[in-house]
Amino acid sequence: MRIVITGANGQLGHELQAVLSEDHLTLLDLPVFDVTKSGTERQIIDARPDLVIHAAAYTNVDGAEGESERAVAVNVEGTARVARAAARVGARLFYLSTDYVFGGSKRTPYLESDEPHALNVYGRSKLEGEKQAQQLCPNTLVIRTAWLYGAHGKNFVKTMMNLAVSQPELRVVDDQRGSPTHAGHLARAIKAMLGTELKGFVHATGSGDCTWHEFASAIVSLLGSPARVVPVTTAAMARPASRPAYSVLANTILAGQGIRLPHWKDALAQFLKQVKVEVEAK
Ligand SMILES: NC(=O)c1ccc[n+]([C@@H]2O[C@H](COP(=O)([O-])OP(=O)(O)OC[C@H]3O[C@@H](n4cnc5c(N)ncnc54)[C@H](OP(=O)(O)O)[C@@H]3O)[C@@H](O)[C@H]2O)c1
Repeated sequence: MRIVITGANGQLGHELQAVLSEDHLTLLDLPVFDVTKSGTERQIIDARPDLVIHAAAYTNVDGAEGESERAVAVNVEGTARVARAAARVGARLFYLSTDYVFGGSKRTPYLESDEPHALNVYGRSKLEGEKQAQQLCPNTLVIRTAWLYGAHGKNFVKTMMNLAVSQPELRVVDDQRGSPTHAGHLARAIKAMLGTELKGFVHATGSGDCTWHEFASAIVSLLGSPARVVPVTTAAMARPASRPAYSVLANTILAGQGIRLPHWKDALAQFLKQVKVEVEAK
């Protein structure tokens, strides 16, 4: 299959490259490919893809509050360009979206049919990106994921790993609940989605859920670090962007296709073991 991956150098992009290595891949990312520039469409059209996986995005949740024009240019207008190009060549489009399209007032996992209500600039820009993708490309699947981490790029797990060896105490919020998702497992799930006719929306996250504090505690414990993980409230952390208190996503549609991502605890243990092996091999 001919596949274009946008954001190919990002966390998910790297993992997609690995799992789809047997397909004909066109890898697009900054600086050669910039979704805020006209000409983007031509780069996609020239690749003649059967599928476009649009993972490129402005992903700095707090940064977006002060850079809303940039977030909109990338996540909304950029997505429109990608969707137009995919439609033009008759390709299927997978648009990566986020649990932050939801407001967090539920206490049971969000279904694909639940009404979104984004609380911050990033979430609103991704939600508008979903609409652009669906309006401009008839064969679009919006894949909402959450709390991504992996070997490439910056993420919560790597931050906690660094802090656990340098600080005696880590302060982590315990009033936001979601589902950590290993980027490699998401990439494998996306590969499995190629064999389905899924259209519309699908939620794809690691199984189970936790607070950031529980997630950090598991990281510290698996590392065998003596650092204390202290629970704090969101209000005490005073971050620029509001975040949903609850953004667990039900993966029911995906499960109906026989596709399941591992439990976040198993995925984390596997990831940290792999990192340890790589560090020891150096
Ligand atoms: N990370 C999460 O926790 C999370 C959670 C839910 C959903 N998602 C969604 O999942 C997708 C993949 O996330 P990720 O963590 O892999 O993101 P990532 O690591 O930030 O990768 C995104 C890639 O897009 C590139 N990019 C940024 N602006 C661009 C532009 N104007 N034109 C072309 N490329 C551009 C980035 O380049 P630079 O690095 O040079 O900016 C980066 O290589 C995104 O759509 C994101 O919204 C992520």
